[in-house]
Amino acid sequence: MRATCFILALAYLLLQLVNRATAFDHQGCRVVKPHGRCSSILNYHLYNKAFPSGYDLARRGLIWPEGLNASQHFVILIHGYNGNMDRSPNAEIRPELLKVPNVNVVSLEFGALVPDPCYVQSVENARPVSICLARQVRKLLGKAKVSLELLHVIGYGLGAHIAGLASQQLQAETNLRFAHITALDPAKPLYLTKDLSARLDPSDADFVDVIHTDVFMHGILQPLGHVDFYPNMGVTQPSCGPSQNIETHQCYHKRSAEYYAESIFSKTGFWGFYCTELYAFLHNECQPNTRYELLGYYTRSKARGAYFLATNQEYPFARGFNFDNLDRTIRGKTYMTDGFINKISEMGESARNLTKYI
Ligand SMILES: *[C@@H]1O[C@H](CO)[C@@H](O)[C@H](O)[C@H]1NC(C)=O
Repeated sequence: MRATCFILALAYLLLQLVNRATAFDHQGCRVVKPHGRCSSILNYHLYNKAFPSGYDLARRGLIWPEGLNASQHFVILIHGYNGNMDRSPNAEIRPELLKVPNVNVVSLEFGALVPDPCYVQSVENARPVSICLARQVRKLLGKAKVSLELLHVIGYGLGAHIAGLASQQLQAETNLRFAHITALDPAKPLYLTKDLSARLDPSDADFVDVIHTDVFMHGILQPLGHVDFYPNMGVTQPSCGPSQNIETHQCYHKRSAEYYAESIFSKTGFWGFYCTELYAFLHNECQPNTRYELLGYYTRSKARGAYFLATNQEYPFARGFNFDNLDRTIRGKTYMTDGFINKISEMGESARNLTKYI
C-alpha cells in the first residue's frame, strides 16, 4: 500500500515536471514551451467592490467569478519588464481606479517570465503572454458577457506591446479587437520595427492613447497611437535625478503611470497643445493656441496627433493650461553630448525624419 502510494506520488511529480509550461535557458531565463498551459504562464487578480483585496483567478482554474456586472467597466493593467501585479502601473493606478464607482480592475501577473536581466527572453515571452490574455478576454466576453466597449487595457513599458499583441491575437481569432488601449511609455529595446505585427500600433484598438516619458532610454519616441502625449517633451521628468544615471531613467519611465494615476481625480488636468512632432516642438514651430487635448483617464477617444505639456516639479504634477516657461531644449538632458546634438541640428530637415525612427 505504502509502495503504491509512493509510486503514484512519484509519477504525479514527474507528470508535473513534464507539464510545466516553462523551462530555463542556459542563462537561467525562463522560456515558455510551445503549447505551454496558460494557467502556468499568466495569472489575474480581479479587484472590485465585491473583492476589494483581490480575487485570484489561478486558484479557481482561471474561471471568472459568478455575478460579474457586465455593464460595468473593466480595466486590465499590464505590468512591464521586471514587474509584477503590484508594481507599475498597478501600484500607481489601481488604488485610484478603485475609488471610481463601478470599475473592475484586473491586474495581470507574469513576473516570472520577465525578470531582470532577461530582457531578450522577456520580449520573446511577451507573445505567449499576449496569446493567453486574448484567450482569457474571450472568456470574459463569452461567459461573463462583458462587452468590448467596456474593456480598457492599460500596458506599461513591455506591457504596452503585450496589449497590442493580445488585441492582434483576438483579431486573428474573432475579427474583434480591443476598443481602447493605453500605452504608458511603451518599451523601445527590440521594438523599433516597421513590422506592425511585432509591436503596438494604432490598428490594435479602436483608440490607442500613448504617454511618452523616457524617449531616449526605455520608451519609444515615435508616435504609436491615435494620440501621443509628451510631458516635458518625453525626454526628462522633474525631480528624478541626474540624466546619466539609470535609476533616473527608471523614474522617468514610471512617471507615465504616475501622471495617468493623477489624471483620474485631477481638477487641474494635464492639458497638452498640438504639435506635429518633437522636432517641430524643439524648433519652436508650435505655440499653445488653439488645439488642446487632455492627457490620461479622460482623454477624448476622438483625439488625434501629438501633444506637448510641462508638469510641476513635484506632485501634484498637473499644470492645467499653464504653459509658462516651456522648456524646448534637450541639451545636457540626455546621454547624447552637446556636440552630437549640434550635429543633429545641423542636419536640418533630415533630422526631422530621424526622430520618426527612435
Ligand atoms: C451593474 O452596474 C450598473 C452600472 O454601474 C448599475 O447601474 C447596476 O445597478 C448594476 N447591477 C447590479 C445587479 O448590481
